[in-house]
Amino acid sequence: MTADLPRLTPQKEPPLPLPERHVLLCTSDSCRKRGARKVCKALRKALAERGLKRRVQLVPVDCLKQCGHGPMALVYPDATWYAGLERDDVPRLVEEHLEGGKPLEARLYRRAHGKRGEG
Ligand code: FES
Repeated sequence: MTADLPRLTPQKEPPLPLPERHVLLCTSDSCRKRGARKVCKALRKALAERGLKRRVQLVPVDCLKQCGHGPMALVYPDATWYAGLERDDVPRLVEEHLEGGKPLEARLYRRAHGKRGEG
């Protein structure tokens, strides 16, 4: 005896693209006061201009619990923390890390990555 289950139909749409990277960018109070919105806007624009919107998912998020060191960002899948990001950092962040896979040393969050970084 077979149950009356709904039939699954084959998908006609292409599968959703899976981003290669996610950038969680804090836009909460402390980071916003330090320029997070400018960074967010510049990053969104740079990703669009370089045709990376599908490969890199920018996600403005609430507080990442590292207030005072911002603007903060956390990039996955490599779990790279950034601190003190500025709008002028965006071109290198996109080119070197988000496209090239090499984190931007100058803005790495020291608390997460040792002496090399900020914060
Ligand atoms: S407000 Fe950005 S880490 Fe808390």
